[in-house]
Amino acid sequence: MCGIIGYIGHKDILSVLISGLSKLEYRGYDSSGLCVQNSGNLTIIRKCGKIAELSAALSQSSLSGKVGIAHTRWATHGEPSEKNAHPHSDCTKSIALVHNGIIENYHSLKELLEKEGHVIETEVDSEVLVHLIEKFYEGDLEEAVMNALSYTEGTFGIAVMHKDEQRIVAARRGSPLVVGIGENEMFIASDVSAILNHTKRVIYLNDNEIATITNTHCVTKNLGGEILTKKVDEVQWTIDAIEKDGFEHFMLKEIFEQPQSIANTLRGRVVDGKVKLSLNVDVKNVKRIIITACGTSWHSALIGKHFIENLTRIPVEVDYASEFRYRKPIIYPGDIMVAISQSGETADTLAAIKEAKAQGATTLGIVNVVGSTIAREVDGGIYLHAGPEMGVASTKAFTGQLVALLLLALYIKQQKGEKLDNELLEDLQNLPTLVKQTLESSKKIIDLAEDFKDSKDFLYLGRGINFPVALEGALKLKEISYIHAEGYPAAEMKHGPIALVDSHMPVVFIAPHDSTYEKIISNMQEIKARKGKIIAVSDKGAEIQKLADIVFKVPSVRDELSPIINILPLQLLSYYVANVKGLDVDKPRNLAKSVTVE
Ligand code: AGP
Repeated sequence: MCGIIGYIGHKDILSVLISGLSKLEYRGYDSSGLCVQNSGNLTIIRKCGKIAELSAALSQSSLSGKVGIAHTRWATHGEPSEKNAHPHSDCTKSIALVHNGIIENYHSLKELLEKEGHVIETEVDSEVLVHLIEKFYEGDLEEAVMNALSYTEGTFGIAVMHKDEQRIVAARRGSPLVVGIGENEMFIASDVSAILNHTKRVIYLNDNEIATITNTHCVTKNLGGEILTKKVDEVQWTIDAIEKDGFEHFMLKEIFEQPQSIANTLRGRVVDGKVKLSLNVDVKNVKRIIITACGTSWHSALIGKHFIENLTRIPVEVDYASEFRYRKPIIYPGDIMVAISQSGETADTLAAIKEAKAQGATTLGIVNVVGSTIAREVDGGIYLHAGPEMGVASTKAFTGQLVALLLLALYIKQQKGEKLDNELLEDLQNLPTLVKQTLESSKKIIDLAEDFKDSKDFLYLGRGINFPVALEGALKLKEISYIHAEGYPAAEMKHGPIALVDSHMPVVFIAPHDSTYEKIISNMQEIKARKGKIIAVSDKGAEIQKLADIVFKVPSVRDELSPIINILPLQLLSYYVANVKGLDVDKPRNLAKSVTVE
């Protein structure tokens, strides 16, 4: 939800901090700031708006130093403003802090601190934390941070510095933090994208761990002060995986990356007619599966239900994580919870996992970000290996999740001793080629964007395994073009929504030639009769051409693969409509890539 970077070393500290922030901007971008220690003082610069504002403010600056921290914000407490931007400092401007998360006992801490004479200047919860550290500071920053955190409830990923100390103290609970190990330099960051062009050697912090870094050393402890030995990982992502590769936006790059990202999800997992997953969890006796997620990941969960029930006959329940966690859910012995999360940091999904674990469920994660909190919270899981998804609107992660869910369904079937359908496995292996073909043939969608950019409402309709594709297509359009769009089961139209249809209403049908095709055709006729403008995604030509105003032709594939193929033109439709409207496709208003607040 916010992005943090800290640096100790010999490089030009402003360029390290600013370039690191720009790689983290997708995590939140309503304000930003930095603090640099120089000649025994802390200099703090903060700006409202995107990081370009901060960069411009510093373009003539001669500010230099060896220790610094920086932050890009997605507001939770206190509106976006320069005053509320991080870093925050104590009354004597001796300590500076950047924070990602929410301090839940902020009010009681504020009262306590103000009674002791601290002047809290903003409504930002993070500010009380730096004053609490000041309260405990007696010459050792690490000790003061530990003491302060022992009184802190809620989530945090923090980096803290003191004007008199040549080190940075970082700690996490519920918000991600990674330490970067360089040559005579060290980094702290919310994720590896901020430091990848400096080092690939990283240490992932777990919850309730603290790291103190100098330019040559990193000491990690738990919040009780015990020293921990942590593994140094080598990051596999290359820096250009972060950059846009010549595309105008990350989202477009990631849409066209899907043949490769799907190939990466499949890599090494279908060998000689067998599905190979190292789940670390025994699935052969599972009696019930609960899949929980948010947003786009919830849409892939709905499709995962079809995969698992059709292939294994094991009952599957799908739940919004935010609903599951508060509903006093019933968990039976033998239940497995599957949590789906691209970022691996979504607070509601993490809380749902903890609730299920507390009641004895085994948990699996389907996650993209390696080393993320959810990935380390679950008992086992499947990494997408789709590479970083920088666009706020999820695209390649969605199709990667569907492939991972299909692999999971096949794996469970295999572990139950049942024979797998070799044709399905072959089609799955051929999927990247089909995805590439579909994307290539969908380029004509660019010309259509102009016709739809002024639409006020869209309906997306699908049936069966493609009903969630209607939901996902609608979400894509509304979250980046700000056009209202709703996804519905096609049969539901006659129960009310058809009242909305008139000649101004584009209605998108996902209409593969499957067992529901005839029904979808009659739904199209109902819309046609009311002069609705019909856009159809289909592998069928003739009948559809007569009824639909626009047809996005896709290859014929088996039912299990149709959602992955059918979503592709809808991803492009939403992208091109938003782009022709001149909107910031990668950073849509009010949204952030990782929702680590509840
Ligand atoms: C997707 O386009 C949305 N930006 C959003 O719904 C996202 O899918 C949701 O916040 C869940 O994120 P996660 O997969 O990282 O948990």
